[in-house]
Amino acid sequence: MQKKKTVLDFQRMKAEGERIAVLTCYDYPTAAIMDGCGIDIILIGDSAGVVVAGYDNTLPVTMDEMIYHTKAVMRAQPKAFVVADLPFLSYQIDLAGARLNAGRLIKEAGAAAVKIEGGVNIAETIAAITAMDIPVMGHIGLTPQSLHRMGGFKVQGKSEQQAEKLLEDARAVERAGAFAVVLEGIPMGLAGKITAELSIPTIGIGAGPSCDGQVLVLHDILGLCSKYSPKFVKRYAELTPVIAEAVSSYIADVKGGTFPEERHSFK
Ligand code: KIV
Repeated sequence: MQKKKTVLDFQRMKAEGERIAVLTCYDYPTAAIMDGCGIDIILIGDSAGVVVAGYDNTLPVTMDEMIYHTKAVMRAQPKAFVVADLPFLSYQIDLAGARLNAGRLIKEAGAAAVKIEGGVNIAETIAAITAMDIPVMGHIGLTPQSLHRMGGFKVQGKSEQQAEKLLEDARAVERAGAFAVVLEGIPMGLAGKITAELSIPTIGIGAGPSCDGQVLVLHDILGLCSKYSPKFVKRYAELTPVIAEAVSSYIADVKGGTFPEERHSFK
């Protein structure tokens, strides 16, 4: 039987060169499926706001929405390690607010860890949360909550100066006590450099193959998000036409009177 994953596994996996597979997840049925497949980490990303709720970006996502999605995932009793995102405005105001909201994701929703976007600027917050014995996953590079500062969803760390800043961010996140760090939308050479320097695992998304693990958004790999398709996504299925065909067949059956049949009915 599969053993429950803990933070200790990811340290060992980095040391042994075993890659860490991470996917986002927002509900009970997909949590049960991916857990059965042996995913290492389930991330309840605030990308839920885009791929589930249909917002243009992650900024409107609330704590209550993150708690709702995390609780749904936890009902699948995953063996995977579960990390939940702290949404915009849930950790930036003050340390007390950040600690309270991180604690809510653990206590109310059942996550094992939280993820926070930011580097040097957020290191004190990471330290405050890890001081409560809540494991923190950092997230640097293309941080979607910083959309307006970045001027769009743009690759970060391309210039020497930006790359040096990202190295500083990575070091700050590690020093603050994070157990892992997501590297999003950065050149693969820089991701390799950060991965080699840090003792905590790096989880890449649009950061090339040298990271200790990879994360993608579930709806992207399943072909369920037609709004956008970043270069770094690999589609493993095209579910949109599959769902459309099933729904169309149902509509045709209902209109044509061929559903329900006797076997779907009670005597
Ligand atoms: O919100 C999210 O899904 C994320 C991952 C893509 C890293 O932050």
